[in-house]
Amino acid sequence: MKRTIVSSILLLWQLNCTAQSLSPIIGANKIIDPYHYTSVKSQTFDKASVACAHPLASAIGAEMMKQGGNAFDAAVATQLVLAVVYSNAGNIGGGGFLVARKSDGKSIALDYRETAPAKASRDMYLDKNGNAQTLLSQFGHQASGVPGTIAGLFATAAYGKLPFKTLIQPAIDLAEYGYTITEREAAALNSVRESLIKNSTAPSAFVKENKWKAGDTLIQKDMAETLKRIRDNGQKGFYEGKTAQLIVDEMKKGGGIISLEDLKNYQVKSRTALEFKYKGNTIIGMPPPSSGGLIVWQLMKMMEQRPLANYGFQTTKSVQLMVEAERRSYADRAEFMGDPDFWKVPVKTLTSDAYIKNRMSDYDSNKATPSKEIKAGVIKESEETTHISIIDQYGNMISITTTLNNSYGSRTVVAGAGFIMNDEMDDFSVKPGVANMYGAIGGEANAIAPGKRMLSSMTPTLVLDKKKKPLIVAGTPGGTTIPTSVFQTLVNILEFDMNATDAVNKPKFHHQWMPDEVMTEKGFSEDVKKQLLAMGYKISERGAIGRTEVIKILADGKREVAADKRGDDSVSGF
Ligand code: DON
Repeated sequence: MKRTIVSSILLLWQLNCTAQSLSPIIGANKIIDPYHYTSVKSQTFDKASVACAHPLASAIGAEMMKQGGNAFDAAVATQLVLAVVYSNAGNIGGGGFLVARKSDGKSIALDYRETAPAKASRDMYLDKNGNAQTLLSQFGHQASGVPGTIAGLFATAAYGKLPFKTLIQPAIDLAEYGYTITEREAAALNSVRESLIKNSTAPSAFVKENKWKAGDTLIQKDMAETLKRIRDNGQKGFYEGKTAQLIVDEMKKGGGIISLEDLKNYQVKSRTALEFKYKGNTIIGMPPPSSGGLIVWQLMKMMEQRPLANYGFQTTKSVQLMVEAERRSYADRAEFMGDPDFWKVPVKTLTSDAYIKNRMSDYDSNKATPSKEIKAGVIKESEETTHISIIDQYGNMISITTTLNNSYGSRTVVAGAGFIMNDEMDDFSVKPGVANMYGAIGGEANAIAPGKRMLSSMTPTLVLDKKKKPLIVAGTPGGTTIPTSVFQTLVNILEFDMNATDAVNKPKFHHQWMPDEVMTEKGFSEDVKKQLLAMGYKISERGAIGRTEVIKILADGKREVAADKRGDDSVSGF
């Protein structure tokens, strides 16, 4: 662990804290200093590691494993700390997915995605002329689904070894006594200042009179009290009692529809993880209501019989092939994918070898296939998120992606409870053909219905080698770019033989069928762009794609861990 993280604690910290109120990890003479820390972008560890969006969260996750916990304990503690120190995406007011493979070989897929409230209805975001009002699905009280994160954390902790009270205490301390914010976080908070004011009904810790700057201390007293209620009352500390009442009061003040019954009725779903073979390796992914696992399955299978490694990394040939596969898979996403409890997702067909072969039958290696000529396949049956990759000393692997949807979610802070609500309702198809904030379109499969989970792109992924030993833990935020980023990360390692750092940091590209364009990150080859343009592709350069966290397990069992250079992301371990 970096010297900066284990260094001594500020005097201020010592003055503020009473020893008994602190976790054994954070505080005076303890291990982690919330005022002095830096990101560690890549490191190889012997036993256990966490890679995630914030150095404090990685460090606390790793520390839980060091103190006798396992990867599930780390998963809970890390997410709770992210909810405090990375409030643009870390959350208790949102939801997520966890894919794990236990050391005994059992796979786990936990779905703690938000649900549409009971009062939600298919056309709730249409005005009287039938026009979609996406401002309502993206901002403010009506944009929120019923949060799933806390239920997900309790379901995760059931596989852990440490008491929940131990896992939550670091987050409580960080909220109560504060931590130093980074330059990126200061800029992010400043950029949403007006939006937070507009969409909240009371002042919050996230808005201060002057602009935030790097080095400021963010203290979240209301959040600390909410976390204490969860510590003391378990899941009911969020879904019932005072916290639930505060959420419902907030909803009433701002025209939201989440009720006490919605909160009380929220259920985590244990799903069957998707598993398929790629050249002898086993890839394990999240099933619907995420589209991510299915898209990665289709994309990898569209590559398997083709000489991608010979084409070379980001050559015109390899990029064109990958883009054409992406175009076809995303057309299927729009038509066939939704919450499997409400819509029959034809998983078997979409992933069958015959179907996938047929999808690529009109692929032309010399030119772009216009998206308007690509429809979903014919079958007979229908910024801001955050990722955590973990492996422990026992061989448990966990991949978690969790989100509020947009950066700082709906921008509604629950008055008195101090946390931000999600704007996940925008991930539904609010009207057939109307794009969500990531440009994704959909129809019946992903229409709004009470209790339904909105379709996601989140793609927590694990890979086992030919002997079924842990090989890769990967995932990223990035809206609809998530599956294509995970796809590129896997291809970078499995086909182009990259180390974890290169697999994460090399420029990325993305195509999602509609809009019909290839998006590229800065640094993507200008030559390849020229050649793609000549073949009929439309290209647009865009900002950073994703924040990928990768653990690659080396032949000698060491864990090579990389946190994305695109954010404050950091690795930790031992
Ligand atoms: O579930 C989804 O697909 C989206 N709500 C994810 C949003 C996201 O990744 C934003 N991050 N940049």
